[in-house]
Amino acid sequence: MVNKKEIKNNLNKNELQKNFNEKEFEIMKQKALENHIPIIMDDTLEKIKELLNEEKPKHILEIGTAVGYSASCFAKYTEDAVIDTIELDEQRAKEAIENINKIGISKRINIMIGNAVDILPTLENDYYDIVFIDAAKSKYSIFLEEGIRLVKNQGLILADNVLYKGYVMSDYNKHKQRTAVRHLREYIKQVTETPNLETEILDIGDGLAITKVIKKLITNN
Ligand SMILES: C[S@@+](CC[C@H](N)C(=O)[O-])C[C@H]1O[C@@H](n2cnc3c(N)ncnc32)[C@H](O)[C@@H]1O
Repeated sequence: MVNKKEIKNNLNKNELQKNFNEKEFEIMKQKALENHIPIIMDDTLEKIKELLNEEKPKHILEIGTAVGYSASCFAKYTEDAVIDTIELDEQRAKEAIENINKIGISKRINIMIGNAVDILPTLENDYYDIVFIDAAKSKYSIFLEEGIRLVKNQGLILADNVLYKGYVMSDYNKHKQRTAVRHLREYIKQVTETPNLETEILDIGDGLAITKVIKKLITNN
């Protein structure tokens, strides 16, 4: 027997397949690359695609929309996930809105304009299956703290750029990179040393941290 929810999911899937405009998606990607917008790298995306296949998320939160490329990929590679995404830069957010309209996926993506540091505390606890962090490196620890609150038990927090062009693992860093490196090292320390977090750091793209959040700690007592 097919229940109402399944019918709705199938409709969403069909609707997306019918509406997803591949040509506009490619134009968005090329334009972003030409304009040096730092969009997610192809090999990082391949890994995320695998994770999306395994996890089948329904709710994804993204911090750092830019022009909507990665959010569109999340919509493209899931059947019916709804993506909430936050962007500080108004101009970029406007462009992202135009892009998702052209691609035909505006029903699947909610763009919130503002500073994630202010917006995240207004979002509901334990709601998201996946949180993707891809914004200001100096705020990664704040985004992690909020991400832990916002994901469901066993949910994933993904953080891009954690190896920052190799600088994070290097002893020598130019002054310009030092602050970002310090923040990213702090992030890696937190996700690898906090007991209820299980983390894998992958040396792909600019470095991807995949953290599973175990909300209920199993103790021997
Ligand atoms: C690396 S880009 C995001 C790329 C995008 N995820 C993609 O792959 O298509 C980072 C974006 O985060 C935004 N950003 C930086 N700090 C932010 C903050 N505190 N809150 C929200 N967005 C922020 C920047 O304006 C920038 O557009």
